[in-house]
Amino acid sequence: MDKPTSAAQRLEARVLAMAGRHHPFASYYQGKDLVADWVGQRPLVWAALLKPYRGDIKDVLEIGSLEGRSALFWLNHIENCTLVCADTFKKPEVEDRFDRNIRQFGARVRKMKGPSILALGTLVTEQAAFDLIYVDGGHQRDTVMIDMLASWSLLRAGGIMLLDDYGWKPELAPEHTPKQAIDTFLDWHADADIILKSYQVALRKAPATASKA
Ligand SMILES: C[S@@+](CC[C@H](N)C(=O)[O-])C[C@H]1O[C@@H](n2cnc3c(N)ncnc32)[C@H](O)[C@@H]1O
Repeated sequence: MDKPTSAAQRLEARVLAMAGRHHPFASYYQGKDLVADWVGQRPLVWAALLKPYRGDIKDVLEIGSLEGRSALFWLNHIENCTLVCADTFKKPEVEDRFDRNIRQFGARVRKMKGPSILALGTLVTEQAAFDLIYVDGGHQRDTVMIDMLASWSLLRAGGIMLLDDYGWKPELAPEHTPKQAIDTFLDWHADADIILKSYQVALRKAPATASKA
């Protein structure tokens, strides 16, 4: 007879597979080669969060793409958007999966391989601008701070910056998690309207105001 733990694990896997098939966005991932899952059920929250802004989002930047799971959500959910994916892509097998998973979107995607600080510097030099930026790269406090500060400068007025892992591993020293960087960023930025503060944080940059005549 099976050990209860393995039976429970099989049941859990079956329930998750069933839930996945009935996930409203399951089609976004159909036929894709995805091994890791750092996204889970977040697309349900993202869809609700972005609903009022979705039609105005044209350019998306993602820091931390791994094998493309979150990228697939932006590309499928936000019609015709462009997407810049910045990642170190250190593991060739992960980069291969990213390339295969994203290939169908062709010129809508620009891949920038290397540390985010370099990608962000290039984008600043190019005077690029984005309507949605997802920060999910390095998780060290200082890296997150650099990613957020540069991203904020690349975000259009009225744009949204979504930050992952605000609640990640509270047992670690503050310099090893994003939380302190996010809290400090919020202290500094009165122009950031907090539209979500949970495990993830989402900020909307103040919309442009009409200049005085
Ligand atoms: C949690 S994963 C991203 C998950 C991804 N958003 C998804 O949907 O599956 C973090 C990613 O950040 C990348 N990364 C870590 N440090 C980085 C850095 N300094 N610059 C760019 N990418 C980095 C890693 O290579 C990894 O792919």
